[in-house]
Amino acid sequence: MDLKQYVTIVEDWPKPGISFKDISTIMDNGEVYKYATDQIVEYAKTVNAELIVGPEARGFIIGCPVAYALGIGFAPVRKEGKLPREVIRAEYGLEYGKDVLTMHKDAIRPGQRVLITDDLLATGGTIGATINLVEQLGGIVVGCAFLIELTYLDGRKNLDGYDVMTLMQY
Ligand code: PRP
Repeated sequence: MDLKQYVTIVEDWPKPGISFKDISTIMDNGEVYKYATDQIVEYAKTVNAELIVGPEARGFIIGCPVAYALGIGFAPVRKEGKLPREVIRAEYGLEYGKDVLTMHKDAIRPGQRVLITDDLLATGGTIGATINLVEQLGGIVVGCAFLIELTYLDGRKNLDGYDVMTLMQY
């Protein structure tokens, strides 16, 4: 299946000059959403993932159905002030802005094999901070899976030494 035909490109959103890749037109098509999810499920099996971790909000959309399909857990990475119990933090720079990501301190067992999922690899700031959080908790990042990679932003520079799979490249 050619997934790119189901991505909607929105020019100059959320700021002038940004060519936004809207994946809602993948998600609202059951057959296409299932196809994309199945690709990541197969990848998760090859790396023997024991837990899926995804950053809000679109990382949940990608990661939760993968966790469900495999019968394993999903642990959320959230922006500061959203999680109710004791958290660890990591700062990150975004394609447009700066922020802090957090995880519950007990979200990962030391040595647990973690697959990180998100919709988009842009600058790699979000995923770099997510890796940092997983590793602070003693998790092993066995892979990072994305629907889309913006190759011109070279986000992979933050992912040196990690296994990365992306379903579409721009
Ligand atoms: C977007 C996207 C990725 C991240 C990629 O999320 O869903 O998580 O940016 O950019 P980066 O590789 O440059 O870090 P955003 O922070 O807009 O949050 P949202 O999903 O909650 O809208």
